[in-house]
Amino acid sequence: MSSISVPSISVSSPRSLSASASGVLTGTVRVPGDKSISHRALMIGALAVGETEISGLLEGDDVRHTAAAMEALGATVLRPENASQPWRVRGVGIGGLAEPASVLDMGNSGTAARLLIGVIASHPITAVFTGDASLNKRPMARVTQPLERMGATFAGRKGGRLPLSVIGTDHPVPIEYRLPVASAQVKSAILLAGLNTPGVTTVIETHPTRDHSELMLCHFGASIVTTTLADGALAVSLTGQPELTGRRVLVPADPSSAAFPAVAAVLRQGSDLTLTAVGINPRRTGLYVTLKEMGADLAFENIRTEAGEPVADLRIKGSALKGVDVPAERAPSMIDEYPILAIAAACATGTTRMFGLAELRVKESDRLAMVADGLALCGVPVEAGPEHLFVHGTGKAPKGGGFITTAMDHRIAMSFLVLGGVSEDPVTVDDGSFIDTSFPGFVALMNRLGAHIR
Ligand code: S3P
Repeated sequence: MSSISVPSISVSSPRSLSASASGVLTGTVRVPGDKSISHRALMIGALAVGETEISGLLEGDDVRHTAAAMEALGATVLRPENASQPWRVRGVGIGGLAEPASVLDMGNSGTAARLLIGVIASHPITAVFTGDASLNKRPMARVTQPLERMGATFAGRKGGRLPLSVIGTDHPVPIEYRLPVASAQVKSAILLAGLNTPGVTTVIETHPTRDHSELMLCHFGASIVTTTLADGALAVSLTGQPELTGRRVLVPADPSSAAFPAVAAVLRQGSDLTLTAVGINPRRTGLYVTLKEMGADLAFENIRTEAGEPVADLRIKGSALKGVDVPAERAPSMIDEYPILAIAAACATGTTRMFGLAELRVKESDRLAMVADGLALCGVPVEAGPEHLFVHGTGKAPKGGGFITTAMDHRIAMSFLVLGGVSEDPVTVDDGSFIDTSFPGFVALMNRLGAHIR
């Protein structure tokens, strides 16, 4: 166990990458741990009393920023010397966080920033948050507005953007809040603020978003009740000031990371790939539902539950795809997967119409614009509107050959590298360094399976 709790965070220099025609993708591998669950395990472990042991934690840059922040807030975070060993977190208990001595740098991670702003809002401490150029452009008012109602105070840039000072309150009040956007980050920020708040904090969501915070908080001993309201919305109610105690957490492989090798395999006839222990929480599996509708030969095998989360081995074979309509209601369950779905759609026969994509415009980049522009550069006809994207596939390999700008967005980089594996000409991305935020080892893993990325 390393006594230096978290690795130093290096600023990577831009690294262009090129993908050319891949071979068939075969083999059995495990992709890195789930990013959403990894952030939550570190944060909730830091708020529990006693030791939490986390196996399978994603060691990507985003999660390292969370680990460093939890240390700066007074928890002890121990990184194992051997990656197969669990991380350990010694928590300070709810209400026990210390004021950080310097600015909290959240790097590229919206989840780290928004969830932690929620945690701090109900602690009587002040913290200043910043991030990289991508994160500092992203909207934070969606979390600061409800947290102000709980008693916290904020001073930030126009539009509530980072850098942002959070002045937590020592008299937090519980709120009932209906989410104006389908966002698990906003829901989680409010629930995490509700931990150190007396009484019941309720978040109402019209469209169910990922429930990893709820599942993990219950795993650590909190009481959360979810009820369905007359209009079909879900009310998620947390009773404040629970006693959270350290637990063992097993982080499943990330279904959002599995999406890249999975689509690469679907698009290459003859592929037969198994991705083990992938999280299949139904609020995350919209891409896999859609791929099946498109005709993908894809199966969840050996379904089981690990530490409260459903998990399966995902077997994918090369398949011919057809275009489909993807309804807006499905967006929350596949919000991070539209870039890679658009690549699959570019190779399908017929048009794939994706609706309800407004949130894509405020991710690590404006993903709707980045995907539409990148596909057009690679010879794929697309139509994009404020909230929709239509991709016209011909069932043949796209031309490719584009030089893709990634705008510090890991998923744009990985998506277009998958396209390069199935297009006539290689596809180059200007900077693959941000892939490390969510999928360290992506290039090596893909090449081991049959891809050609240099
Ligand atoms: C996440 C929620 C989603 C997703 C992000 C991770 C989370 O964001 O895009 O990558 O861990 O809660 P929104 O809540 O903004 O939709």
